[in-house]
Amino acid sequence: MRSFSGRDILSLKDFDRHEYFRVFEIAERLEPYARDRRNGDLLKEKTLVTAFYQPSTRTRLATEAAMHRLGGHVTGFSDAKMTRAGDFYQEGIQDTVKMLEYYGDVIAMRHFQQGAPHEAAMHSSVPVINCGDGWGEHPTQILTDTFTIWRQRGTLDGLTWVMIGDMRMRTMHSLSYALSKFDSKVYVIAPDEMYFLPEFEKEARDMGFNFTRKEHIEQVIGEADIVYMEPVVQPDYTKSREEVKDDKGRTPPNYQVTKKLLFEKAKSDAIVLHSLPRQDELSQDVDNTRFQRYWVEAYNGVLVRMSLLALILGAME
Ligand code: CP
Repeated sequence: MRSFSGRDILSLKDFDRHEYFRVFEIAERLEPYARDRRNGDLLKEKTLVTAFYQPSTRTRLATEAAMHRLGGHVTGFSDAKMTRAGDFYQEGIQDTVKMLEYYGDVIAMRHFQQGAPHEAAMHSSVPVINCGDGWGEHPTQILTDTFTIWRQRGTLDGLTWVMIGDMRMRTMHSLSYALSKFDSKVYVIAPDEMYFLPEFEKEARDMGFNFTRKEHIEQVIGEADIVYMEPVVQPDYTKSREEVKDDKGRTPPNYQVTKKLLFEKAKSDAIVLHSLPRQDELSQDVDNTRFQRYWVEAYNGVLVRMSLLALILGAME
């Protein structure tokens, strides 16, 4: 297996099966720090730099929490408007990264431009973690999702997934790459205007990501082991920020999951995942059902980021 030490985590395209399980194994080994809420000292000599050019609740804070749990240090920005990238100067990725690489040992970047973390990695002497790039990818989210399923089911093979919502989403791209590595049956439900781009679909199918497109959740909910959701009421992910509109619109029933639907039609052990934040596509009455795992992911997300930081920074091999 390739070493993770010093590696950028930019995409799941080149992650092989064994690498998922290595990340999961280390996440479980480091779990006591999170479970017991006691910070350790594994990364006490290291500093994480967070460079977030787009809003985030979960990804930035889970990555920072993971670094704190391992005794590391954290610096960075969560609002690029307060940096030279967001004012008159519009400082570019290359110049910014040539600074950040001296401020820490790993850079966690979210950006509204697809490929920005890849560009950062080209110019950085320290590893870069892609925390979401435009519509591109969101590898750490999908590692958290697959870890959650692996913990629940003990395998990632032989499962039927329903991917529902906006297929342009970076999570859906990373999930497609991930599922291509496992024995997966996949249904995709998305409005036409939010369907995969043709070039992405071709690439994913060439990699072995096979799926069947359906119109309505009711057609496939009875087969699903996992329902993976994203909103169809979405901001534009190519913008640094989008303010709320008076009328955001409503989610059509085709793309909605409710407690009633799950209890009437889903398998008794089906799992609902959502990267969050949600709109009206996932009703709150699902939160306290046996199907819900999206809150479990808040905890698992810290474990996975601890694992990645420890592996990338060479504290675990
Ligand atoms: N899942 C996710 O990316 O959430 P945030 O936008 O809050 O980081």
